[in-house]
Amino acid sequence: MAVLVTGGLGYIGSHTCVELMNSGNEVIVVDNLYNCKKSSYDRIKALVGKDFKFYECDIRDAEGMSAIFEKESIDSVIHFAGLKAVGESVEKPLEYFDNNVNGTLVLLDVMRKHGCKKIVFSSSATVYGMNNISPLTENMEVGGVTNPYGRTKYMIECILKDLYVSDESWSICLLRYFNPIGAHKSGTMGEDPNGIPNNLMPYITQVAIGKREHLNVFGDDYDTHDGTGVRDYIHVVDLALGHLKAVKKVEAEKGLFIYNLGTGTGYSVLDVVKAFEKASGQSVPYVIAPRRAGDIATCYSDPSKALNELDWKAERGIDEMCEDSWRWQSQNPNGYPD
Ligand code: NAD
Ligand code: UD1
Repeated sequence: MAVLVTGGLGYIGSHTCVELMNSGNEVIVVDNLYNCKKSSYDRIKALVGKDFKFYECDIRDAEGMSAIFEKESIDSVIHFAGLKAVGESVEKPLEYFDNNVNGTLVLLDVMRKHGCKKIVFSSSATVYGMNNISPLTENMEVGGVTNPYGRTKYMIECILKDLYVSDESWSICLLRYFNPIGAHKSGTMGEDPNGIPNNLMPYITQVAIGKREHLNVFGDDYDTHDGTGVRDYIHVVDLALGHLKAVKKVEAEKGLFIYNLGTGTGYSVLDVVKAFEKASGQSVPYVIAPRRAGDIATCYSDPSKALNELDWKAERGIDEMCEDSWRWQSQNPNGYPD
């Protein structure tokens, strides 16, 4: 029996596929290649040293998805496929709701028709909104999100919760990721954003490699230890390993489970810049810029529920996250090859 991984050639999906296969799972990937390169498939294969099935298919294509479920023996699904750029979602809300929400509805319907009722979903700390105080715990009220991307995550959480209420034979795990950074140790897989990066770490690595002149630090007047925004950065390999535990959970137990995947430690923008400079030996010039709309001062997890119930804990610290991000960027200055 295989784990179907939607969006499995993307940043988090590719790292998760490697860890799944390294621990003996059969993996089948579905990706429409919208935000990744086909060479990501070759890199995963080279790392695990064996072949696996990849279907180029859009999750909104009900017929295509049904054909995959008919052909393959699929036990559970890890659902990464989705659009994730906050700014773009404000400009293209319909595309975000269609891809993320409608895509998930199509996927769930196909799963149900084929008797596959085990799913792990990529949610986000963004569902905690602007008003909860860190450390964030899973029982806090969610919603109050400020952009269409965040709303798609919140809406999909609601859909999955309602689905479980209607049919308790489902096994559903919502994973709320904090801020994934870092890359595979080999330097052959990492984050490959299109155009100008929105997120902090890919922006820093592009400054360090000389693609961008300086980092804009969005605000230095927050109520934090140095005035810059504090976040819970988590190594993408730790995040991937969290998915292995979540798959085990949905395979073993019916229910609706929710976990934060974070380290529990917050670092400011300037902490990350310093850690990166130390790890890479490169300097990262920055200027203080105005606050970015929609940002909050501080966001970090209480990760104890995942420790208690999944026996999962992030092991990799900020120095390793920075070293691995830099190895990926310096060995692949233009990201994945075409
Ligand atoms: P990514 O863009 O690198 O990976 C997503 C993959 O899904 C891409 O390979 C893309 O081609 C594919 N895809 C998109 N729409 C599809 C569709 N309709 N059909 C088939 N494939 C499709 O993103 P990522 O960083 O790996 O994120 C994975 C998931 O985790 C996303 O759902 C994202 O919203 C969520 N998430 C990411 C972060 C983060 O900081 N990276 C934080 C919280 C949550
Ligand atoms: C952002 C998204 C969030 C999404 C997450 C992961 C917003 C408001 N939130 O979170 O919905 O789930 O990415 O994709 O976009 N920073 C700079 N300069 C930069 C980039 C970032 O100073 O060029 C700062 C930010 O102000 C923030 C921190 O770095 O304090 C982290 O930013 P980022 O990596 O974009 O993640 P989040 O804002 O936490």
